[in-house]
Amino acid sequence: MKINLEYWRQAGPKAEGHFETHTIQNVADDASFLEMLDQLNEELFAEGKEPVAFDSDCREGICGQCGLVINGDPHGPLVTTTCQLHMRTFKDGDTITIEPWRSTAFPVLRDLVVDRTALDRIVQAGGYISVNTGAAPDAHAVPVRKEHADKSFEAAACIGCGACVAACPNGSAMLFTSAKVVHLGILPQGQPERKERVVNMLSQHDAEGFGGCTNTGACASACPKQVPLEFISMLNRDLIRAL
Ligand code: SF4
Ligand code: FES
Repeated sequence: MKINLEYWRQAGPKAEGHFETHTIQNVADDASFLEMLDQLNEELFAEGKEPVAFDSDCREGICGQCGLVINGDPHGPLVTTTCQLHMRTFKDGDTITIEPWRSTAFPVLRDLVVDRTALDRIVQAGGYISVNTGAAPDAHAVPVRKEHADKSFEAAACIGCGACVAACPNGSAMLFTSAKVVHLGILPQGQPERKERVVNMLSQHDAEGFGGCTNTGACASACPKQVPLEFISMLNRDLIRAL
C-alpha cells in the first residue's frame, strides 16, 4: 500500500510544533502501526533526516506506552492500542494524520512522545494497602465474592495508556482514576484505606491539571481495555461516603 503520512514534529515542551509529511510506497497489510512508523524512520534516516520520536515498549497491548492520536482518534479507528492496530485497517492511498496525546496534563516531550507521569503520581497518591507481610496466606483465607473479584479484575485491566484523557473534551483522567480506585476499593484487602485513598487520588488528579468529568462517555469509547463508565459512578459514591 501507498500511505501518505502527516505527523507532528515538536523539538521540546516549549517549542512550537508543526506537521511534516512523508509518503511510504510499500507498506505491508500485516504490518502493525508501529512497524509502519519504524519503516518511516528508516526512510527518514536514509534521507539524512531526524527520525520521529514515538513511545512503545511491549507492542502487545499490555504496557500502555504507545498512545497516538490517529486521524483524530486516540489509538486510531479501532478500539485497541496503537501497537495492536494493523495497516490492513487502512486503504491504499490513504492519508493518515498522527498527533501526540493532546492534554494540558500531558506535555509534549518530543514529536509524538508526551509526559504521562501525572498518571503515576495519581497512583502514588493512593498509597499502599495495609496487609500483613510474611508467609504467603492460604488462597481462601480472605473470601472474595465472585462478582467482586470479576469487577476488580475488570478495573485492573487498565494499562494507564491515557487514551481516556486524550478523548475527553475536558482532558479528564476520571476513567483512569476510577479504575485504580475500584480495583482496590471493591476487595476486602482494600478496605482499611478506602476513604483516604479516593480523596487523595482525586486531589492529585485535580492538582495535575486534569479536567472535571461531565459524563460525555468519550473516555470509555476510546479505552482499549473497555474500562466501563460505571466505575466513575462507583468512584463518586466512594467519594461521597468519604467526605
Ligand atoms: S481507563 Fe482505559 S483509556 Fe484510560 S488509561 Fe486505563 S486503559 Fe487507558
Ligand atoms: S507498546 Fe505496550 S501497549 Fe502498545
